[in-house]
Amino acid sequence: MSTAIVFTEYGGPEVLRLVQAAPPTPGEGQIRVRVRAAGLQPADTLLRSGRFRAFMPARFPQRLGNELAGVVDAVGPGVEQFRFGEQVLGPAAAPGAHADHVLADAAQLVAKPDGLDWSQAGALSASGQTAATCLSDLGVGPGDTVLIHGAAGGVGSMAVQIAVARGARVVGTASERNHGFLRELGAVPVEYGPGLAERVRSVTDAPPDAAFDTAGTADALEASTELVADRSRIGTVAAAADVERYGIRRMSTRRSAEQLRELVELTRAGRLTVFVQRTFGLDQAYDAYKELDSGHVRGKLVFLMP
Ligand SMILES: NC(=O)c1ccc[n+]([C@@H]2O[C@H](COP(=O)([O-])OP(=O)(O)OC[C@H]3O[C@@H](n4cnc5c(N)ncnc54)[C@H](OP(=O)(O)O)[C@@H]3O)[C@@H](O)[C@H]2O)c1
Repeated sequence: MSTAIVFTEYGGPEVLRLVQAAPPTPGEGQIRVRVRAAGLQPADTLLRSGRFRAFMPARFPQRLGNELAGVVDAVGPGVEQFRFGEQVLGPAAAPGAHADHVLADAAQLVAKPDGLDWSQAGALSASGQTAATCLSDLGVGPGDTVLIHGAAGGVGSMAVQIAVARGARVVGTASERNHGFLRELGAVPVEYGPGLAERVRSVTDAPPDAAFDTAGTADALEASTELVADRSRIGTVAAAADVERYGIRRMSTRRSAEQLRELVELTRAGRLTVFVQRTFGLDQAYDAYKELDSGHVRGKLVFLMP
């Protein structure tokens, strides 16, 4: 039998339950992964709370979790790239990675390097691919200065490191307790909130060339539009409702094994670290989601299975 986190009604973390079910059978092009680690994301909260309802209604009992690392446990028809027992990481085929066993599309997975620990491997693919996609779409590269809002979070902490690896200078927003953390990642930290544009000016010689928003606040969007001349180089993953008003870009993730392989290579080269604030067992779903919902996680939270 397999254990999974589910919810059968929308609500707070208290609606989460553990259920036992037969492990799923992989279909064409799929593999079943025995999950060792699976990251949490705000998208899991949006699905659980019902705020995603119009875009992606829950199908009760609904499972959660988009990213994982684990061991190939069964291989479906047509899968040639992975074998039983291999270690992999990547996205789940559908929300459900917060479970012992989960189905994944083989074409989206990559091999997990031995040197990457399970908790980091299980929390790389979702936030890492969002950060990489958005920085590419904003054209962030050598010589650019990019302003990253929410730089200490799951997406932000990876975006800072990927931007630095691509040759950009980074100014990142976070509360003061995270400023040392941002410096370690290679960013110049500034505090978010009113007066942000002025604080960014005080730490840069010239205005930023691009801005990537993961915080979704009016302060972040106003500072971005005040500072960055080209609106096509301002994007948000957290304020979809405001993009037209500000004339900026609504950004989203694109996933591919090729992009994920590049992120794995960055981890191997020591240029990208997945910072894991805390790990939880599946039986600690309430505590894990309560912490995620605080909105102040540094890096990632991860379910780690024995
Ligand atoms: N569309 C997509 O494809 C996609 C994909 C992934 C994520 N997203 C969205 O992107 C957003 C960020 O995701 P995430 O996983 O990075 O979230 P997260 O890890 O939960 O973000 C937490 C971070 O936000 C920071 N923060 C809180 N309030 C802030 C503010 N007012 N200004 C700047 N930073 C602030 C916190 O820093 P302090 O503790 O220092 O306050 C904390 O480090 C979410 O809205 C998520 O839904 C979209």
